[in-house]
Amino acid sequence: RRNIAVMTSGGDAPGMNANVRAIVRTAIFKGCRAFGIYEGYSGLVKGGPEYIREMNWHTVRDWLAEGGTNIGTARCMEFKEKWGRLRACKNMIDAGIDALIVCGGDGSLTGADRFRGEWPELISELLHKQEITQDQYDRYKHLNICGTVGSIDNDMATTDATIGAYSSLARICEAVDYINATANSHQRAFVVEVMGRHCGWLALMAGIATAADWIFIPEKPSSRSEWSSHMCEIVAKHRARGKRTTIVIVAEGAIDASLNPITPDDVKDVLVDKLGLDTRVTTLGHVQRGGPAVAYDRELATLQGVAAVEAILDGTPETPSPMIAIAENKIVRRPLMEAVKLTKSVAQAIADKDFAKAISLRDTEFTE
Ligand code: F6P
Repeated sequence: RRNIAVMTSGGDAPGMNANVRAIVRTAIFKGCRAFGIYEGYSGLVKGGPEYIREMNWHTVRDWLAEGGTNIGTARCMEFKEKWGRLRACKNMIDAGIDALIVCGGDGSLTGADRFRGEWPELISELLHKQEITQDQYDRYKHLNICGTVGSIDNDMATTDATIGAYSSLARICEAVDYINATANSHQRAFVVEVMGRHCGWLALMAGIATAADWIFIPEKPSSRSEWSSHMCEIVAKHRARGKRTTIVIVAEGAIDASLNPITPDDVKDVLVDKLGLDTRVTTLGHVQRGGPAVAYDRELATLQGVAAVEAILDGTPETPSPMIAIAENKIVRRPLMEAVKLTKSVAQAIADKDFAKAISLRDTEFTE
């Protein structure tokens, strides 16, 4: 009988609650005890009944559709320090937890894998300092972890979709539909900034789904003279055909060929100066991260929650930590650190201005 804890970490994403619900209920269904770690790694370091709470079937009632994360999330500097991880180890043992599922982005999952790798050293230190008994050492000497990927950015390698990305996309499309109505009335241009950190997935997909006139993404930088003349040529063509609106979507991580950020105001200035368009900027901000999860995220989070508990129950001290992914519509297990490594290589390739490499790495077919 395992005692499985679940934690959400990093930026919240719609579907995290559905993921926690599925993990809690699957754990209980399989005869395990389920625990929620509140406030992410920060709660794990603080420990005690306020932050580590046993969850039952009813605790997670009505969580399926709810946005955000009801068990909270936080940025935590203490967990980056050895003493913080030692406290976290002790708190987990005190609560009787021997397996941890983390729903978060690449940083959160790296932290989880590192914690697992360091666990034997941490637990030996606790025994040495007599903070735990020999019996506790024997019972908890292996920690199983598993990652599920929750992030609106859809920036993790080896999975086709992260939990929350489609909800965020739906919210962006809804907002652009609203903007279109007012843009149409005044024949205005709107420059809409969307989230995604260093990844252009949200901007690209939103651009396609709303028939935007132009899209800026970090993965396809060009010089200012290139983008401004090409964008204006397209926008002018659309206007000449009778289009009353102009929508330009800018990913928050958009950069030009010199790796300088392209801001919505840069784009607005070009539309005003070169085309004389009455232009407004809308930064969607956190509205695109909140609200209920769309059906796809509810399903993805639920199926991945079940798969995460199964992966924990199949895990051995030798198995590398798994990450639950979706590939070609199938829920699959990936080695967590491979996925994180590939994700980081994409970021590095972008930093090195090797965009072709970044795109080919992101498209890497994962082979076991
Ligand atoms: O990773 C999710 C995300 O929403 C990014 O798209 C964005 O860059 C960042 O988090 C915003 O972080 P914060 O909520 O801390 O402002």
